[in-house]
Amino acid sequence: MSKLLQLQLQHFRNIDHASLTLGEGLNLIVGDNAAGKTALIEAIWTLASGRSFRTAKPQQLIQQNQSELVLFCTLAEAEQTHKIGLARTADKVTLKIDGELAKTQAEMSAKLPVQLLTPESHRLLEEGPKARRQFMDWGCFHHNADFIHLWRHYQRALKQRNHALKKRLPASQIQLWDKQLVDSAEKINVIRADYIKQLTPYLVEFCLALMPEISVSPECHYRPGWPKTAESYRQLLADNFAKDSLQGHTQYGSHRADIKFRFDGQEALMTLSRGQQKLFVCALLLAQATLYQQYSHQPVIMLIDDLPAELDAKHRETLLKLLNLLNIQHILTSTAQDLIPVLNPENAKIWHIQHGNLTEQH
Ligand SMILES: Nc1ncnc2c1ncn2[C@@H]1O[C@H](COP(=O)(O)OP(=O)(O)OP(=O)(O)O)[C@@H](O)[C@H]1O
Ligand SMILES: [Mg+2]
Repeated sequence: MSKLLQLQLQHFRNIDHASLTLGEGLNLIVGDNAAGKTALIEAIWTLASGRSFRTAKPQQLIQQNQSELVLFCTLAEAEQTHKIGLARTADKVTLKIDGELAKTQAEMSAKLPVQLLTPESHRLLEEGPKARRQFMDWGCFHHNADFIHLWRHYQRALKQRNHALKKRLPASQIQLWDKQLVDSAEKINVIRADYIKQLTPYLVEFCLALMPEISVSPECHYRPGWPKTAESYRQLLADNFAKDSLQGHTQYGSHRADIKFRFDGQEALMTLSRGQQKLFVCALLLAQATLYQQYSHQPVIMLIDDLPAELDAKHRETLLKLLNLLNIQHILTSTAQDLIPVLNPENAKIWHIQHGNLTEQH
């Protein structure tokens, strides 16, 4: 089982120091506005992904008047426990797994299968394709050990090709990157398409569980980042060379991939209410969690910031029941304790947070 046993934070936002021994099921953090609830969720997400969901400036994560933040957790995985740590100063990040320096964030992320639901999560449907690609790639990364390498290859080739296009270098120097770009794009495409295909039946199941009032099932349409009508990506790249040269960047490719969600042929964003959009995102995360568990035989860890802002009482209870049923450790925040039903008290723990100080409720 992937479960967080222990969590320690030092100098993270308004949390000077915190040490929590977590429960296997519900972990509820209750506090007023500005107490530090989102900060705690953000700290776990930072440990798992290397970045914040609130800022692109890591310096902002370090507590004011301090020079370094430290995050540490103990994780139970199958029969083993792992110690995972991250320290960050203004200009340096140090990552450690079981006392050894980790070279990449990907090594840390592979150990910590953490999912996140925040009051902004409905943006997954609302905004451009970037968030949907991140969602899809979370699954691909955790399911296919080659994915991260292919993705890095692709990014490198794309960067170099775009650089050459922008500098208006001779065609031969631009097309030098095409083979690497095409090879990795085609493999990324297969992995992503397969992932979405496998995810869809679970999405259908969780949409039905969370929104039984919707009589039609959702459809997921994966878009590779180039038109379906194209004979191949290789050919498309060749055909678009003049246009790419004119624009100074590569128009088509895996960096433009997307997923369209539809109900009865209509775009999800158009047919669902705001509340249903949030439930749809919950269904997507639960589908992803279930598929992850199928592959790895480990549950994910779910972070939910401000659950009452997300869902009404009935749907909060349905979601909590599903999390219990799926044996997913969940760390939730709320401004009021009575908004969160404790369904399984043996596996639950509650903390109160005030000005960044956490106190466990016994
Ligand atoms: N680097 C930092 N150093 C010290 N304090 C910080 C830092 N960054 C943010 N803060 C403060 O931390 C506090 C906690 O913010 P946070 O967003 O975590 O609160 P919250 O409990 O989620 O509140 P809400 O219920 O309004 O969402 C805020 O008062 C914020 O000003
Ligand atoms: Mg908050």
